[in-house]
Amino acid sequence: MRLQDKVAVVTGGGGGIGRATALCMAREGAAVIVSDIDIASGEKTVRIIRESGGQATFAECHVAEPAEVEQLMEQAVNTYGGIDVLFNNAGIGNAELRLSELTVEEWDRVVDVNLKGVFLGMKYAIPHMVQRGGGSIINTSSVLGVKGKKYTGPYNASKAGVITLTKNAALEYGKHKIRVNAIAPGVIDTAIVDGWKAQEWKWEIISKANALKRVGRPEEVAQAVLFLASDEASYITASTLYVDGGGHTF
Ligand SMILES: NC(=O)c1ccc[n+]([C@@H]2O[C@H](COP(=O)([O-])OP(=O)(O)OC[C@H]3O[C@@H](n4cnc5c(N)ncnc54)[C@H](O)[C@@H]3O)[C@@H](O)[C@H]2O)c1
Repeated sequence: MRLQDKVAVVTGGGGGIGRATALCMAREGAAVIVSDIDIASGEKTVRIIRESGGQATFAECHVAEPAEVEQLMEQAVNTYGGIDVLFNNAGIGNAELRLSELTVEEWDRVVDVNLKGVFLGMKYAIPHMVQRGGGSIINTSSVLGVKGKKYTGPYNASKAGVITLTKNAALEYGKHKIRVNAIAPGVIDTAIVDGWKAQEWKWEIISKANALKRVGRPEEVAQAVLFLASDEASYITASTLYVDGGGHTF
């Protein structure tokens, strides 16, 4: 098993990509701290893992709240003895408006979760990883972190920030054997794209704007995260892995 005896923290573990990855990591032998702002969905992920014989514990956490993120990492250490893998996955979309119409509150809401949340996850997990002698962090960006799109300013800006922040962390903590990488998913079939799906003409275009002419499945992203988390990626750090069917080229 690829994560035997490892401890993994997954934020946003109650949702599409987070749940698929938590399940995948547990199947590969990790003890998983599943955290989410949504208690019911996070607990459901834990239930699924336990019912199939895996190890998991739920932790309620809003990723933009420093005290809650600090507490999350302490819970992981107190429950399972340390942290080997952090998947900074929690993220939200924005109200689709032109920049001049966007409220400052909406900007802050999205950037706080998508970018500050990633910073906080690293800030509070890294000292535990240093103490343990290493670790692997995977931060969730997006193809929208590398290309522009109308009406998604805070989302694009926050996801672009994740890519460079990933490089900062990789450079600062490489000497402590902590690898830090980002993933950039394309259009993946989860609740976050429900709004696009509801508009049939839009979905027809968006869902096929990639080389493979289909949307991705959360499990396909989970496999990429698993790879980056595992020792198979032992010489990979500061990278951004596209999991987008080639969508970043469109
Ligand atoms: N689905 C896509 O097409 C796609 C593409 C690129 C990037 N992403 C990114 O992947 C990540 C996962 O998204 P998803 O597609 O699985 O969406 P999702 O909405 O299915 O899951 C997101 C999860 O994060 C949780 N969450 C939301 N705000 C939170 C907060 N403040 N603190 C803690 N948890 C919170 C939600 O409760 C939910 O369980 C996000 O960062 C998203 O931006 C998704």
